[in-house]
Amino acid sequence: TRTQDEEDLPHATKKTMADHLRKYESLFTLTPQRMRMIVEAFTETLELGLNKTNQIVPMIPTYVFGWPSGKETGDFLALDLGGTNLRVCLVTLQGEGKFEITQTKYRLTEEQKQEDGQKLFDFCAECLKTFVETNIGEGPGQLKPGQSLPLGFTFSYPCSQERIDHGELIRWTKGFGATNTEGRDVAEMFKKSLEKYELPIQLTALINDTTGTLIASHYVNPRTKIAVIFGTGCNAAYMEHVKDIGKIEHLGIDPGAEMAINCEWGAFDSFEHEHLPRTKYDAVVDDTSNKPGEQAFEKLISGRYLGEILRLVICELIDEGVLFLGQNTYKLEKPYCFDTAFLSLMESDPTDELLMIIGIFTHFFALETTLAERQFFRALAMLIGRRAARLSACGIAAIVSKQGYLEEGCSVGADGSLYNKYPGFADRVHEGLQDIFGDKGRYVRHYCPAPSANLVLIFISYDKKQKRRRS
Ligand code: GLC
Repeated sequence: TRTQDEEDLPHATKKTMADHLRKYESLFTLTPQRMRMIVEAFTETLELGLNKTNQIVPMIPTYVFGWPSGKETGDFLALDLGGTNLRVCLVTLQGEGKFEITQTKYRLTEEQKQEDGQKLFDFCAECLKTFVETNIGEGPGQLKPGQSLPLGFTFSYPCSQERIDHGELIRWTKGFGATNTEGRDVAEMFKKSLEKYELPIQLTALINDTTGTLIASHYVNPRTKIAVIFGTGCNAAYMEHVKDIGKIEHLGIDPGAEMAINCEWGAFDSFEHEHLPRTKYDAVVDDTSNKPGEQAFEKLISGRYLGEILRLVICELIDEGVLFLGQNTYKLEKPYCFDTAFLSLMESDPTDELLMIIGIFTHFFALETTLAERQFFRALAMLIGRRAARLSACGIAAIVSKQGYLEEGCSVGADGSLYNKYPGFADRVHEGLQDIFGDKGRYVRHYCPAPSANLVLIFISYDKKQKRRRS
């Protein structure tokens, strides 16, 4: 597959690549012992967040009380503002765990993520308007004049809540930076946009994607106790006893009740960086991000950052004169140009020659590679992907240990692009859990409940039990 010209280019040999790989192996590999130490520190951090306000890992009470009954029925709108896309959906719940979804997806532009927050919510309302006009409209069996539809808003950023339809944005994560939004009630801001576009819609719930996944996963599998998202960001939610949420004791909520907690665990080890194995590449990712110091755990794991970590390693080897000598590497020098999807492709390339990897480098970066280099890139992707999965296992293990779920076993609903699309990610999480817990780790089962499961979050917007609690 190589031409005479390419053969003439100086390339790194198999031996030099193997030498370098050994160095990265030691940097990116997590031993079971190290993992157990992380779990211990993680568990303490979760406890702290439940008992004290303003902690690094905020352990946010969501005012979602208990599990859905599975009998819920009706039409509901859902709006999902994630890290990469905006989705508008109509969910029809048919009871008995069945539901149908009609949805439209919009990719967010970089400007929308950084401009004024009210403008971002206006855009959301505009998309909703188009969706309602196309998919619902007026007429027999549809919306009657004066009738309004309930809407659940999955807003996947840390918000401190006082009620289910309220949420003050603590801080943006995942590269968002829209101005005039942090510290404000985003539910209120969004209601303003709904009014502006005169939409027959009532915002009834503001919810994190992890909380939505928790409720939806339990709907399809009642053994579910935890939900995790491994996507552009990384986070978890679980159901907690109100009596164990020390920081809301003064509210006088029935201590026997249960409430979902949005952990916002992506923030674990932020600022202090005491517990996680950060490499110098991770430090660069952090320093050059729009929020240095923050989301330390998430920056080692989530889809937003994995490609960038790999790119930084490759750039270092270019600077050291090991890779791509005599070739123009300017296209690789642009931050975030190496998508995490490339790591997935590299790891799943089934060809002996690694033709897909040739394709990535020639197509996107105009670079020629030898087989030894391609094998090296693949091995590197594997190290970075594996570390992410094993750290994820540490987070899950912390909740399992804290809640004492190991003895009886439990299911973990998992969603997000990394979990669903990255080859081997789920298996590596599983291996990680066994490295931490030994054989018992097998009984912590994780699964993806259904595509877009978090959209069934809408249960909670009308569940009578919820309404009683709210009033
Ligand atoms: C980020 C957000 C969090 C969300 C996660 C997954 O960590 O802060 O709210 O759940 O990404 O989307």
